[in-house]
Amino acid sequence: MREVYDFDQVIDRRGTYSLKYDFARERGMPYDALPLWVADMDLPCPQPVRDALRRYSEMGIFGYSAPKYPYYEAVMEWFANYHDWGTEEKWIVRTPGVVFAIAQCIRALTKEGDSVLIQPPVYYPFRQLILKNGRKLVMNQLEETANGYRVDIMDFYRKVEDENVKLFILCSPHNPVGRVWQRGELQEMDEVCRRCGVTVVSDEIHSDFVMSYPDRYGNPVQHTVYAKVSDYARENSVICTSPSKTFNLAGLQISNLFIPNEDLRNKVKAEIARSGYDESGLMGLVACETAYREGVYWLGELRRHLYRNLQFVRRFLETEMPQVKLVEPQGTYLLWLDFRSLGLDDAQKAKLVNEEAKVWLDAGSMFGPGGEGFERINIACPRQTLEEALTRIRDAIKRRGL
Ligand SMILES: Cc1ncc(COP(=O)(O)O)c(C=O)c1O
Repeated sequence: MREVYDFDQVIDRRGTYSLKYDFARERGMPYDALPLWVADMDLPCPQPVRDALRRYSEMGIFGYSAPKYPYYEAVMEWFANYHDWGTEEKWIVRTPGVVFAIAQCIRALTKEGDSVLIQPPVYYPFRQLILKNGRKLVMNQLEETANGYRVDIMDFYRKVEDENVKLFILCSPHNPVGRVWQRGELQEMDEVCRRCGVTVVSDEIHSDFVMSYPDRYGNPVQHTVYAKVSDYARENSVICTSPSKTFNLAGLQISNLFIPNEDLRNKVKAEIARSGYDESGLMGLVACETAYREGVYWLGELRRHLYRNLQFVRRFLETEMPQVKLVEPQGTYLLWLDFRSLGLDDAQKAKLVNEEAKVWLDAGSMFGPGGEGFERINIACPRQTLEEALTRIRDAIKRRGL
């Protein structure tokens, strides 16, 4: 019998060590701000995962743990079945998270002072990791066009050449602008990387969330694993994946890197070994294997919920809050909202959203150049939560007479 999911049930997460719900004061937000910032979901994970975790917790012993073949098989089958990508067990390197993995890659594959390129506005830990590790930050800002965001490929080429870029951290699909980079776009970037000898760390953590409708030119939107675009890409990339976004398991700290090239893999593994990380957490292993084996039905139901939430936001903005514009997403469950027509600077916008509306979103400026005037909102929550957040923002805008 199929599991039944009610993604509109509001679950109280307060007092559960939740970064989203329990740390407003510490992070400078009003204690009663409704949080739709960090990318985890206010929705329960697949029932088979909950059942498996319950079985293990009833055993009551949480000793050192490591995966065997069935774990790797489940991970590889997911990518074969849903991303049309044949992989090998030996390519997989486990880490406790993608951010940790990217830090290891930066250290393993570049030296202090080397240039590392990112494409802002982009997931802010990329910039922080580059700077904290003493590397030079190079930015190829995304181009905002009437048809959505694009990579400025000429600027990309120029920056790679002029700055002697060694490593490129790609966000695919892109958080926060919601682009799912298409094969042709990836090929253009790969071509530049091949000519200039750049290694690519492709963060594909959002790859299981692609909207099932065609893009504005009528072409179906599809996620393409970066390593598939060419032989050079396969031999010179690290593909970062995790079940954490797909199945809402971020607190279980498990992710899987795919590194087809042995030399590259050994360098990254050596850096991870230097950090002292070895065994994965038991619950992360159990959850990852179970989710990839038995979570696909849940994911289908979840995608329907997210799609309906997206439609709700689109309609709400059009009818109730036309000053705020939705950047149409092709993927992810994070929406990029354009507040620029309100004419507020970032401090004024923060006051409006956080203090007056009492909603906690991620301010666009956190994502780097091009993010000013935007806010990122997480729609992986019950409709009621989303409606409450949007209503609070609408009312705050009205009160200001904007
Ligand atoms: C693009 C991207 N990469 C990585 C992460 C975090 O990954 P992890 O929790 O595995 O470090 C996020 C979370 O929001 C993300 O959006």
